[in-house]
Amino acid sequence: MSSAVGEKTITRVPLVDLKRQYHSIKGEVDSAIQDVLESQAFILGPQVKEFENLFASYCNTKHAIGVSSGTDALLLALKSLGIGDGDEVITSPFTFFATVGSICNTGAKPVFVDIEPESFNIRPDLIEKCISKKTKAIIPVHIYGQCADMDPILEIAKKHDIRVIEDSAQAIGAEYKDKKSGSIGDLGCFSFFPSKNLGGLGDGGMITCSSDELEELIYMLRIHGGKPKNYYSIIGINGRLDTIQAAVLIKKLGHIELWCEKRREKASYYSQKMKELDLATPETMSFNKHVFHQYVIRTKERDRLMEHLTANNIGTAVHYPVPQHLQKCLAHLGYKEGDLPEAENAAKEIVSLPIFPEITKEEQDYVINSINNFLSTSNN
Ligand SMILES: Cc1ncc(COP(=O)(O)O)c(C=O)c1O
Repeated sequence: MSSAVGEKTITRVPLVDLKRQYHSIKGEVDSAIQDVLESQAFILGPQVKEFENLFASYCNTKHAIGVSSGTDALLLALKSLGIGDGDEVITSPFTFFATVGSICNTGAKPVFVDIEPESFNIRPDLIEKCISKKTKAIIPVHIYGQCADMDPILEIAKKHDIRVIEDSAQAIGAEYKDKKSGSIGDLGCFSFFPSKNLGGLGDGGMITCSSDELEELIYMLRIHGGKPKNYYSIIGINGRLDTIQAAVLIKKLGHIELWCEKRREKASYYSQKMKELDLATPETMSFNKHVFHQYVIRTKERDRLMEHLTANNIGTAVHYPVPQHLQKCLAHLGYKEGDLPEAENAAKEIVSLPIFPEITKEEQDYVINSINNFLSTSNN
């Protein structure tokens, strides 16, 4: 099978192609790296602060603190709230393991709440009955690039005097009721993993907040907890954002709105072309502006569809195959199959299709035709 683009015939489509983005802004990226090389200021050089300021202003928060990864952003955010041994943190099972691993690494216990099948995000109306005396925070995860329904979550948090940390790793630029993700809860955590919508050249992350007290604590925790240097009243980690990453991310941040818009356009093209097909396309909640970090469809034929797409050289993935409450390392928490049915069903039926700002219409047509062919043969 193939799809023609002018002279060129499409015969493969990657899940994501980072080279295209790099080549579209190569001059900016290369010169940003060169500047850092010339300065040799690799650790907390001036670009880190500059990027933090730009990021805070992009997200509409008072502060942003550059850190070493999205995972460390979550860990440091939890630590800044004093969360540790004996505490409980409520979150979604339908996330990347880092959300949960970070909770466990503070010594706290994750408590899982099932998801809404339409948005794949945590179901606010199920949260309250999971709150105990030990609950210290809720981490809603803005999965695939659209925000969880934050108002009822904030209301519950206020009522029980607990904090809200947004896991915005997949949702830079996403909006909930005109508010940017990361500016809604007490703290927002972002990832600059290379394939994220704002991707670095390696690991990187950011924490957003508007509390001066939390900002100061996170700055300390990011450098082992020392203030002044070599004097430690708290225990932190080595969790800084590299200057090279910050320098490159400053340049990339200038393009993020356009890239988000392109992702929305590509997603809308897929959805429009697939609306007659026997599968579920993503839903955007009325209060949300989605940034489509992933474009995820649902079908009971998921595994066979993936095999078919792979045979046609189309990149796909399952984000994520095991809902976190069923991970082996968390068996001691006592969750079993059937406890969180919406997350479990979704994990069996989801598949992520290729999406990135530079994907062409012809590539998308190739993907759509492939799916179409599969469905028409599998229904017969
Ligand atoms: C929802 C979610 N949370 C946390 C992370 C962790 O980010 P990182 O890979 O930068 O540590 C990721 C990304 O990988 C993620 O998708």
